[in-house]
Amino acid sequence: MEGGGGGGEDDIVCLDESFFIDDNYQLTTFIFGSQVIELLCLHSASTDFDLTGQLVWPGAMLLNDYLSNNAVLLQGCTVLELGSGVGITGILCSRFCSKVVLTDHNDEVLKIVKKNIDLHASSEKSNFCSELVAEKLEWGNSDQICHILQTYTNGFDLILGADIYIHNCFQQSSICLLFNTVEKLLQARRNGQCKFILAYVSRTKTMDSLVISEAARCGMQINEVVGTRSVVGNLEGVIFEVTLKKQHE
Ligand SMILES: C[S@@+](CC[C@H](N)C(=O)[O-])C[C@H]1O[C@@H](n2cnc3c(N)ncnc32)[C@H](O)[C@@H]1O
Repeated sequence: MEGGGGGGEDDIVCLDESFFIDDNYQLTTFIFGSQVIELLCLHSASTDFDLTGQLVWPGAMLLNDYLSNNAVLLQGCTVLELGSGVGITGILCSRFCSKVVLTDHNDEVLKIVKKNIDLHASSEKSNFCSELVAEKLEWGNSDQICHILQTYTNGFDLILGADIYIHNCFQQSSICLLFNTVEKLLQARRNGQCKFILAYVSRTKTMDSLVISEAARCGMQINEVVGTRSVVGNLEGVIFEVTLKKQHE
């Protein structure tokens, strides 16, 4: 593209993120069992600048169906969600948990998740009973991980993630950052009772095996939750439970 101001033919105008941002969010209703959730989201999103978090992904549908059918897992728990996007999973959890921390690395996504938190809190129909907050967390960012660990000194009962490897996690190094972050969050729960629930939607065979091998390489045990393998959209999804390996193993 030719630049203005009398520049020559070779001048290049670099467009910043704001040029690509669509914030024409629509209020959308989602139903998971007996739980009805209304929130703002887009119905398509850009992978430029990783704006994937502006919409609800199949992994979130899978995880929310699983959690709404197994709400006992959430009762009274403290939860941190990684790559929360618009916040649909964390908002569902807030109906059952005592504290929910939604995290994402994208500032634009954090803006919409905060709006959805406010919307949920002000909704008369909502059974809003827990503390629900958003925090910036980029996997592998030591300062941000430290901030979370210092703010929530007791750690969490559950770490959640849905479809969180899709954009920049096609490389081994990104999966490694994700699992390193998960490891630190799991270790923060001193009684060793914390687990990471990952809603995984298969897109490539390479990624399928990388997720399993990286979890093991980071000293974690990864198990498929029996009965959760299912079709979401036109893809195959499954719920994994990830825990720290016991010291003697
Ligand atoms: C495909 S979206 C899934 C959003 C939501 N969990 C869902 O299933 O609807 C991936 C999310 O992970 C976030 N994400 C991607 N890479 C990240 C990273 N390195 N650190 C933190 N968040 C990241 C994106 O901003 C986005 O919100």
